[in-house]
Amino acid sequence: PAMKDLFGLDDLEEQIREAYGLRKVVVVPGDSESSPDVKRELGRAGARALLQEARIGDTIAVTGGSTLAEVAEQMGSPAGGPLKGAWFVPARGGLGESVEIQANTIASKMAKKVGAEYRLLHVPDLLSDDAYQSLVQDPNIQEIVDSIRSSRIIIHGIGDAMEMARRRRLGPEAMEDLRKEGAVAESFGYYFSEEGTVVHRMLTLGLRLEDIVRTEIIIGIAGGVSKAQAIHSVLKFGQEDILVLDEAAAMELCARI
Ligand code: BG6
Repeated sequence: PAMKDLFGLDDLEEQIREAYGLRKVVVVPGDSESSPDVKRELGRAGARALLQEARIGDTIAVTGGSTLAEVAEQMGSPAGGPLKGAWFVPARGGLGESVEIQANTIASKMAKKVGAEYRLLHVPDLLSDDAYQSLVQDPNIQEIVDSIRSSRIIIHGIGDAMEMARRRRLGPEAMEDLRKEGAVAESFGYYFSEEGTVVHRMLTLGLRLEDIVRTEIIIGIAGGVSKAQAIHSVLKFGQEDILVLDEAAAMELCARI
C-alpha cells in the first residue's frame, strides 16, 4: 500500500470531506507546528492543489502568513507549462508583519515561479476610516482592488483569532472585544465564531465577504493541533472547496466531528 494508506490518511481526508461538504481534502503526514519538514510538505501539497486548479487567464488572490509563504517557496513549474496571462494578487493590503510573509511578497513570488503576472496593493492592512475613504477613490487602487474582487481562486491561511490579533498588534480593548464576540478564527481579515459566523472585520482594502461568497474556488491551508478549532470555525463558515492540512490538525478536527 502507499505510505498514505499505512497512516490511514485517506480515511481522515474522507471523514473531513464528508463532514464539512468539501470538494477535496489533502492531509500530509505529521505535525507542521513542531516540524519544519512537515511544514514544507504542507506547502508542497498546497502548491500542488493550487496548480491543479489554476489556468491561464485566472486571477488568484493569496493571503499572507507563514503557511502561504511555504506554499510559494515549494511551488514548482506547472506541468502544463507556464501560467501565462494568469494574475496573482494579494487578498488584502499588507500586514504589519515581516515582509517575507506579507501577501504582496507571496503573490509576486508565486507569479514568478509559475510564469504568471502579478499586481501589488501597496496600502497598510489596517486602515483608519479617513485613510480608507480617500484610498478607495484613487483610480490606481480601484483598479487593483477590482481585480482582487473578481478573483476566480482564493488561496488562504487560517489563524487562531487571538494569535492573529496579537500578531496584528491590536490594542487590549480590541482584544477584549474580540474575546467577548467569541472570535476563535481569523482568515482574510475576518474573525469568525465557533459556529462560523463573522463576528468582526477589519477595515481593509481587498476582498469583501460578498466577493468571498461568490468566488469559484477557495483553497484553505493550515496545520498544527492549535489551529484545529480555527479550521473548524472557517469550515463552518461554509465557503471552502479544498482544504489542505496536516495530520495533527486533521486528527484533532476528526475528534470534534
Ligand atoms: C495571515 C492571513 O497573513 O496569515 C490570515 O491573512 C491567516 O488569513 C494567517 O489567518 C495565518 O498565518 P500562519 O503564519 O499561521 O500561516
